[in-house]
Amino acid sequence: MRVVVVDAEHPDPEALAEAGALLRAGGLVAFPTETVYGLGAHALDPVAVHRIYEAKGRPSHNPLIVHVAGPAEARRVVREWPERAERLAAAFWPGPLTLVLPRHRDVPDEVTGGGDTVAVRVPAHPVALGLLRAAGVPVAAPSANRSTEVSPTTARHVVKGLGDRVDLVLDGGPTRVGIESTVVDLSGATPVLLRPGMLGPAELEPIVGMLALPGPRAEGESALPSPGMLERHYAPRARLVLFDPHDAAELARARRSVADARALGRRTGALVIAAEPAEVDEARRLPADPHAYAQRLYDALHTLDDAGCDVVIVERVPDGPAWLGVRDRLERAAK
Ligand code: TXA
Ligand code: MG
Repeated sequence: MRVVVVDAEHPDPEALAEAGALLRAGGLVAFPTETVYGLGAHALDPVAVHRIYEAKGRPSHNPLIVHVAGPAEARRVVREWPERAERLAAAFWPGPLTLVLPRHRDVPDEVTGGGDTVAVRVPAHPVALGLLRAAGVPVAAPSANRSTEVSPTTARHVVKGLGDRVDLVLDGGPTRVGIESTVVDLSGATPVLLRPGMLGPAELEPIVGMLALPGPRAEGESALPSPGMLERHYAPRARLVLFDPHDAAELARARRSVADARALGRRTGALVIAAEPAEVDEARRLPADPHAYAQRLYDALHTLDDAGCDVVIVERVPDGPAWLGVRDRLERAAK
């Protein structure tokens, strides 16, 4: 595995050309997007895509997002391009939004998990866009971490998690958004929010109308939740215990978790915004602004793991819609 440092705003064209050639030849290239680092492979090459699943230890029924350089390229991997897709793409691409649409027959089963839809997005990062242009092919890329672990927001996280399972890592520094893209399913009659992200209903609904939340379907309807949203996910090695500092029962439970762990000689951590909850070995404080919080969340979780924490108590974030994506990730990580 090689790590090549590139400028985040003006990446060296030669480095991008080399990485693009590696992708066309079936290699695995990790690269920064505005959300998290992706683990890329040539999306139309089933053998290359298969290597992604092996590297991540990911179940092959969990489909991948196809990354493309622009809406014109997106249209080549889908069978239908509804007006809703056109409007969302015009408003938010390049950006942290993934659209699920009926798949084009050229997209292999390895990408879609065998399903009839494909997820597609145009990332807003000069390195990602430069790489996609240099590759000249659509690039399937999940987050560049082992399956169920915390997504990487720096090249260091990628190397720590995947090591020699990846051929090349483009190091473009820390990512700006910090949590994964919002996923919206446009393949049915009503758009469905499959995975919340930093683009929320407040931004999307004025463009596309009411978003449905995935849930149990009526009988006879095809049950197609986002397969990746089912299990514990985005999780550090440590056990996370969420608490609201104003909820006496939750606060007591968090304190007890810390005390029990310490009594067993285990290392403990805390991830807080304002709370001063308990004596722990490693405490990390994150900002009260949802965007700044999201940007730093995964690095904080990686750091607490690196410090060997077995239990981490996490202050719950506010209820507002701006925190939807962050709340989702914390709840999944604490499952
Ligand atoms: O921000 C992101 O989206 C990052 C960067 C690298 O672009 N990628 C990412 O990929 O988070 P991944 O594989 O970790 O998550 C993809 C999510 C999963 O929840 C998966 O189940 C869902 O998108 N997904 C992919 N294809 C789908 C499809 N055809 N139908 C429904 N859900 C799909
Ligand atoms: Mg992931």
